[in-house]
Amino acid sequence: MSKEKGNAERNVTLIIKILEKLRYISPSLPYKYLQLTNNTIRNEERFTEFWWRMIQEGRMSLTIREAFNIYYYLTKSLPLGGSIAEVGVYKGGGAKLISEFKSDLTLHLFDTFEGMPEVNSAVDLHLKGDFSDTTLESVQRYLKSYSNIHFHKGIFPNSSKDLPKNIQFCFVHLDVDIYESTLSGLNFFYPRLKEGGVIISHDYNSISCPGVKKAYDEFFVDKNEDVFFLWDTQCMIRKR
Ligand SMILES: C[S@@+](CC[C@H](N)C(=O)[O-])C[C@H]1O[C@@H](n2cnc3c(N)ncnc32)[C@H](O)[C@@H]1O
Repeated sequence: MSKEKGNAERNVTLIIKILEKLRYISPSLPYKYLQLTNNTIRNEERFTEFWWRMIQEGRMSLTIREAFNIYYYLTKSLPLGGSIAEVGVYKGGGAKLISEFKSDLTLHLFDTFEGMPEVNSAVDLHLKGDFSDTTLESVQRYLKSYSNIHFHKGIFPNSSKDLPKNIQFCFVHLDVDIYESTLSGLNFFYPRLKEGGVIISHDYNSISCPGVKKAYDEFFVDKNEDVFFLWDTQCMIRKR
């Protein structure tokens, strides 16, 4: 890579990181604006009421549209039965969204709770140790009012070894930001996904997470399912 191109990529990454941080300083104005522009979201009172509580708690790292996508396809998948999973929990914002709407199905949550594992620097822009400002105990406290939640601390997929051999999933949220973890998630969950079940992944189209798209595009090249892009950065597959 030329020196100029390397500098340009670093600048883009820096700008994205600054924009991501700004969202935490005053999230309510942009979110209020976004909410008013979308009829579908505005009409789902269960979701919007929950969203305002989430904003005040300050742990949500998804945009309102991304959170709505999870709410919508999660609730559509519940009648299939089986389990639900999220890989990449961090402080528990997405996990709380899933917990709120999962009914009594079992939710499996996977994270190191100590930040990113080793990354592949030829593909990934994140660094080992990013997202380390969280703990398993704080997320457990945050989600304590919900039932049927299992925490799996450690590096995925090793941390999945205690799951029942015949487990099946109706809905999976992958939010791991890097190539190897995304590929591990697809290798593990795709064969265990029920027919009609959904995998949504964050950051498929994020400039700061190029490994996610690479993993998806490689994995689904010989599968029956198409990978659908969703706003803002997510993608989704539905098992045939
Ligand atoms: C962007 S954060 C997740 C954000 C979270 N979904 C939310 O709603 O706020 C990415 C997380 O993925 C976790 N992660 C990435 N690869 C992992 C792996 N192989 N095993 C366990 N955790 C991993 C990191 O520890 C980090 O907490």
